[in-house]
Amino acid sequence: MLKSMLEPRSIAVIGASRTPGKIGYVILKNIIGYGYKGKIYPINPNAEEIMGLKAYPSVLNVPGDVDVAVIAIPAQEVPRAMEECGKKGVKVAVVITSGFSEVGNVELEEKIIKIAREYGVRILGPNIFGYAYTPSNINATFGPLEVEKGNIALISQSGALGIALMGWTIMNEIGLSALFSVGNMADIDVAELSELLADDPNTKVIAIYLEGIKPGRGREFVETMTRVTEKKPVVVIKAGRTSRGMKAVASHTGSLAGSDALYEAAFKQAGVIRAYDVEEMFDIARAFAQQPLPRGENTIIITNGGGVGVLATDAAELSGVKLVEPSQQLMNAFKQAMPWFGSPKNPVDLTGQAVVDNYIKALKIAIESPEIDNIVILYCRTAILDPRDLAKAIVEFYSENKVNKPTVASFVGGQDTYDAMRYLNRNGIPSYPSPERAINALSKMLWYKRFLEKRTSKR
Ligand code: ACO
Repeated sequence: MLKSMLEPRSIAVIGASRTPGKIGYVILKNIIGYGYKGKIYPINPNAEEIMGLKAYPSVLNVPGDVDVAVIAIPAQEVPRAMEECGKKGVKVAVVITSGFSEVGNVELEEKIIKIAREYGVRILGPNIFGYAYTPSNINATFGPLEVEKGNIALISQSGALGIALMGWTIMNEIGLSALFSVGNMADIDVAELSELLADDPNTKVIAIYLEGIKPGRGREFVETMTRVTEKKPVVVIKAGRTSRGMKAVASHTGSLAGSDALYEAAFKQAGVIRAYDVEEMFDIARAFAQQPLPRGENTIIITNGGGVGVLATDAAELSGVKLVEPSQQLMNAFKQAMPWFGSPKNPVDLTGQAVVDNYIKALKIAIESPEIDNIVILYCRTAILDPRDLAKAIVEFYSENKVNKPTVASFVGGQDTYDAMRYLNRNGIPSYPSPERAINALSKMLWYKRFLEKRTSKR
């Protein structure tokens, strides 16, 4: 049933508007503009045609089936529209409209749930900005038109933050498979969506902005998320960590923020990775999205700068990333990749004199060595090695050699290191402006690997 949201044959927009700037106008414009190939039906009793499409006074007048109905009409009119959706056999109603339980209008919310249940319609929302699913070219939101395609699914309990993140992900070139606003979660909730996405072949990792789960559904949340993490990594930001934050949550989505320690325990038990800010959530999600899961613990750092190597070493020690002690044989091999004054230990220091060739030689040794499972590539801006050349060479090397050892990178320097990292990110090597962020992302991948192993060994 929920799957029809991902591949609907048709979408109706109830409240599709002729008036630029209205929410029902933007949603229809986005659905058309993002290239959805199924049937689109604007529903508006006051219009004959909107944006070149024939408009219908009600979903009941639509000639074909309607899988998804996006509802953007005033709250008091939603029950009637829901009834019509039920009669029409709509599978999922995406209710954008505000003015329900979030403002104390619980009765109206219960009314639409009751109608939906009678007919077997599922509800996303109400009080949401919509949803997007990029493999089917669906952008049924009133956010920006462009949604960068990729394999991270984002679920947001905050509407405005979700919309803001649509723009943010584009700026940071973070590709999304799906984006769901869940709002009041009157029916479909975060856990159920996660379960849907766990079986979605176009999603590799699920990122969630969570304020709280519905009272009494804690156990169910843990059980569902435990099933989800068996299939895919999940990264969550849980807002409302402090007592003031909890009060803010209560007046925002009305969720029970609950004790932070309880959430922490629930996440650990279910294998959910916790992030503490948006940047960290996407840092981690990007690593999972682009890299294979680690198979072992042994990590090597390859750098041209001692300082960033030390920072990465500290970060690794503090976050449980095991830095391999290279054997004499391995050190002899690394020696061949650097000037005589370099260091073949871990961090492997190619020195400030390093050029592309040194890095590639060291990487070749690292991917061939059975002593090494994971690789951290660090670079500090020097005048003798253009970071963009290095980035190109790394990408070429990884693709030619079909490298399957998890790798993260950090390039530190000016604008051209950012350009180089954009290139790496676009080509599957997750890259971060600081060594600590790179190590943190890797540490979470390792945590998840250990979690899966522990779970398997318990069986
Ligand atoms: N069926 C079909 N169409 C209808 C119906 C109906 N029953 N009733 C009205 N319409 C048409 C109208 O004629 C209008 O089209 P027109 O502009 O061509 O005349 C269109 O549908 C919209 O109706 P309006 O009455 O103009 O409603 P308006 O656009 O002002 O508001 C809305 C509707 C947007 C759903 C509003 O009630 C609302 O809830 N806004 C908040 C939405 C929101 O913020 N959601 C949470 C997101 S989270 C966040 O980002 C903060």
